[in-house]
Amino acid sequence: MPAPRPVTKAVIPAAGLGTRFLPATKASPKEMLPVVDKPAIQYVVEEAVRAGLDDVLMVTGRNKRPLEDHFDRNVELEHALQEKGDLAKLALVHEASQLATVHYVRQGDPKGLGHAVLAAAQHVGDEPFAVLLGDDLIDERDPLLEHMIAVQQREGGSVVALMEVPIEAISLYGCAAIDGPPGDVVRITGLVEKPPADEAPSNLAIIGRYVLSPSVFAVLRQTPPGRGGEIQLTDAIQALIATEPVHGVVFRGRRYDTGDRLDYLKAVIQLAADRDDLGPLLVDWLRGWLTTRG
Ligand code: UTP
Repeated sequence: MPAPRPVTKAVIPAAGLGTRFLPATKASPKEMLPVVDKPAIQYVVEEAVRAGLDDVLMVTGRNKRPLEDHFDRNVELEHALQEKGDLAKLALVHEASQLATVHYVRQGDPKGLGHAVLAAAQHVGDEPFAVLLGDDLIDERDPLLEHMIAVQQREGGSVVALMEVPIEAISLYGCAAIDGPPGDVVRITGLVEKPPADEAPSNLAIIGRYVLSPSVFAVLRQTPPGRGGEIQLTDAIQALIATEPVHGVVFRGRRYDTGDRLDYLKAVIQLAADRDDLGPLLVDWLRGWLTTRG
């Protein structure tokens, strides 16, 4: 058997409309919302780089300017900080522009996640590649992508990240049917997008990390719009199951869905509470505030 082609590229879809976060997302993508003091998208790019993927393709929509600017140099700001001798802040400004080689492609109409991934076909070519949703944060203390890449290299085909959720919540997610018990790595036998709880084959929800075989592009070209009139990535991966192995890695760590307002607030509080510079003061204040509030 030939050696598997290595995974070197990350695709980050960031072209959704972000309607759950209006009006904040009227003129700026939701991926730019700050989580403590960094935009959500920077956490995602850092995660890709930690997993060894420093070729990043961002799929952008109508508001791509802030994303491009964030990962580019800002010479004026750098100059001002240099003049002031504020080297710590200067390093923060440099960091984002030096993280990775970031490329951009436009999705055009936001016709769904599958359609966004298809926009990456030319850049990715004939290699397996990772997809990281730009509004889904995985805590860096609980590595996931490295593990998924290792499974893809061992098993071939595609790998999807899964998370156990209460069955009442499964209708918010893509859902996986699996062969055998939900261990850490499972063989997926079917996928269905946002099923009602009483029709769901399991409580295993798809979360925003994938390592995909390049065959997904040919399937996506043939995939008609599905649920909500969107071209669903879940439908394309479901079609792949007929010809290639599709595995799931069950994630049991910390994940934050920053596209959802309540989860976003939880992410900001949890991540700030864990920081040395903000945590002690924030937690103290929160305790006091909760007591006075009743
Ligand atoms: P969501 O399902 O969260 O959709 O997309 P959305 O449109 O961004 O947000 P709401 O529901 O209106 O608030 C999941 C991920 O897929 C990307 C989004 O940017 C997000 O990272 N996406 C979605 C695209 O890139 N293109 C699309 O057409 C749809």
